[in-house]
Amino acid sequence: MLAQQTIDTIKSTVPVLEVHGLAITKTFYSNLFKDNPQLLNIFNHTNQKKDRQQTALANTVYAAAVHIDNLEAIVPAVVQIAHKHVSLGILPEHYPIVGQYLLAAIKEVLGDAATDEIIDAWGKAYGVIADVFISVEEDLYKATENAGGWRLFKEFTIEKVEEESDAVKSFYLKPADGEKLPAFKAGQFITLRTQVPGEEFLMNRQYTLTDGTEDYFRISVKREDDVTPNGIVSNFLHNAQIGTKVDVSAPAGVFTLVQNDSPVLFISGGVGVTPLQGMLKTMEGRQASFIQCARNENVAAFKETIEQNVAATDGKYKAVYSDLDGYVTKAQIEEFLVPGMEVYVCGPTAFMETVIQYLVELGVSADKIHYEFFGAAMALQIK
Ligand code: HEM
Repeated sequence: MLAQQTIDTIKSTVPVLEVHGLAITKTFYSNLFKDNPQLLNIFNHTNQKKDRQQTALANTVYAAAVHIDNLEAIVPAVVQIAHKHVSLGILPEHYPIVGQYLLAAIKEVLGDAATDEIIDAWGKAYGVIADVFISVEEDLYKATENAGGWRLFKEFTIEKVEEESDAVKSFYLKPADGEKLPAFKAGQFITLRTQVPGEEFLMNRQYTLTDGTEDYFRISVKREDDVTPNGIVSNFLHNAQIGTKVDVSAPAGVFTLVQNDSPVLFISGGVGVTPLQGMLKTMEGRQASFIQCARNENVAAFKETIEQNVAATDGKYKAVYSDLDGYVTKAQIEEFLVPGMEVYVCGPTAFMETVIQYLVELGVSADKIHYEFFGAAMALQIK
């Protein structure tokens, strides 16, 4: 339990730190990686380049600090991040390093304004917040092992590759040790870790499981334009030979279908179709409709299977091709809505922001809108 004085200091400095948040986290990461380059085997370098991770961590630490006297409020958001952390193999011993460099960055950016009292208070707060993460993550690691999964990474072999569209290929991954695989929920992901030739550090990427049995996992990966650093791992996979070995973590993630009887509308943008087509296969008596947005028909992955699965539930399907028709409109979404519907949205950030805004304007209540949102999710959930 933190002393009231410490809590007061934290709360009074949150606004100042928010103003300097990005500068602090940029300083933090640059010093952290300069002194601990081995951590670049865990972090996504592309996210670093785009400041994505910087913003996510800053938002989260400040959001947690606002709730420092009521940390129960942040647990749902912590759980979501913890799934990402365990998928990447983050361990308790990583937390003190991050804490040390975060405090040093606050001191470096704020200078004399960061008094000993302020630094001491934030040190204590970080310790409390880190303990929440560590304990949630330990529970997840244990639950995974109890369900037949594993901690950290396991070697898998690419057994089979299938073309889903001009841009998307599916990869069938089998564990090299021949052990049976654990069950997973549609919408969950794995982290694939590999050494890409020419890259100094290991690369980690999360991919949604699009299918799987106790013998294999399937991921479906979009080829990226060669000039974007985003595509390093995806393009490595697209060029990989059958038999290539990669490391894979156990399934994780909280973006899964809520089990009830309500009808469901799935709205996907681009490769965001992957978790949603998986959820669609598990409808069991529920009606499901699907709006699939893509640039054109050639890149609309899983289209035929989705249409068949939607028809089997007596639902409606619509493809919206931006090359032909422009982006999905509020009126198109309205045509698909029925009372009590649960809506699942997945796609690029700007697409999701627009679609979620439309849904809110169309009167869909927040608890019926489900989406996977990068990073800022924590600040969103605990307002
Ligand atoms: C991802 C917060 C500690 C490594 C994230 C995300 C948030 C976050 C908000 C984004 C989640 C998402 O993408 O859905 C925090 C907070 C921490 C903490 C508040 C401390 C209390 C750590 C530690 C490590 C770590 C100790 C390991 C050294 C990562 C990595 C990612 C991540 C590798 C994935 C993003 C990327 O690859 O760049 N964290 N984190 N985090 N975190 Fe943490």
